Amino acid sequence: MARATAPTWDTQVLTAFVDEPRRGEPNEATLACAQRWLERGVPVVIPTETVYGLAAPARDREAVSAVFAIKDRPLDNPLIVHVTGQTHLDALELDWSPLAARLAEAFWPGPLTLVVSTRARWPWVTAGLDSMAIRAPAHAFAAALIDRAGPLAAPSANLSGKPSPTRAEHAAQDLRGRVPLVVDAGELEHGLESTVVDARGARPVLLRPGALPLEAIEDLCGSAPAGADEPHARSPGMKYRHYSPRAEVWLYPPLAATLGREALGEHARELRRHGRRVAVIAREAVVADRFVPLPHDPRETARLLFAWLRELDALEMDHVLVEGVAPTGLGRAIMDRLARAATRVVTNPSRALERSAER
Ligand code: TXA
Ligand code: MG
Repeated sequence: MARATAPTWDTQVLTAFVDEPRRGEPNEATLACAQRWLERGVPVVIPTETVYGLAAPARDREAVSAVFAIKDRPLDNPLIVHVTGQTHLDALELDWSPLAARLAEAFWPGPLTLVVSTRARWPWVTAGLDSMAIRAPAHAFAAALIDRAGPLAAPSANLSGKPSPTRAEHAAQDLRGRVPLVVDAGELEHGLESTVVDARGARPVLLRPGALPLEAIEDLCGSAPAGADEPHARSPGMKYRHYSPRAEVWLYPPLAATLGREALGEHARELRRHGRRVAVIAREAVVADRFVPLPHDPRETARLLFAWLRELDALEMDHVLVEGVAPTGLGRAIMDRLARAATRVVTNPSRALERSAER
């Protein structure tokens, strides 16, 4: 319903920085333009250090409702509020627990979102919960804009269900015509969303693994966050299907053993024999319609992962066979996103190989 009446825009893409595409001095003309739209209650796409966000002033009910409509986002999935300073935190009437203070002190600005209790009644942001998710982004353009425009509610700037945008062109692909402005800061530093932690109690509870590795929180707090060993993260947004390319995604464990590698190779061959277009993302080369080498550095995998999923869709692959990574450090968030994108998880590749040999 909202779609039929929503305005359509001639989407403009402006650069975030003056000299280099990725860093330096925020571009004054772009800042002023973004601020003007936000003041008029119109959401715009902005870069952060994690993924691109679709931002609206958090206190503006209409503007935040527009964010949900633009993305086709389910209304029961609350948004993160992005802040830069104490005045912002004060305005949000938060019950800032000792744990939240400690985590913010250690990791802000940065890719950590803290869920805390709030007395502010902003149901358009919190989906009616009495808690609010807050984060202080470590991105010069985002921070400069928040300094001017105040706290910004911003989900990732993709259509609901699609991979989060890590390049301005991904956001433009999804939201062209639905927003007047995409601010381009090139490929972003992390490429994965922030880690979301419930900081209301004495011990942190993991709601979504993300760009801040849990080990960093464990080092600070002396123990791993609760919920870290649960297969399904607990934040409301995590119940929806995510990051889903059109292709079928089969996820394999890290393929240390030769048999595992053979299984993936055999699956690729078999699918191609049946006329399917197959992409493979793995450490060692496999014959496929498109082969993407899996980097050894998980930071690089994190940065590129969502771009691969989009690219493989653009190439109209039917199947994507992906070798996983060890689920520690950043690998935990990488495996979480891959598992959500996957239509099949191959837990025992050598058994799978035996079965396909028997057939
Ligand atoms: O890196 C990021 O976090 C990016 C950038 C733009 O900041 N944002 C992002 O937003 O990923 P989004 O909306 O795609 O994901 C926010 C997650 C969802 O899983 C949502 O359910 C959860 O945070 N969340 C928001 N408010 C919450 C709350 N009050 N309690 C529990 N979870 C909450
Ligand atoms: Mg999202």
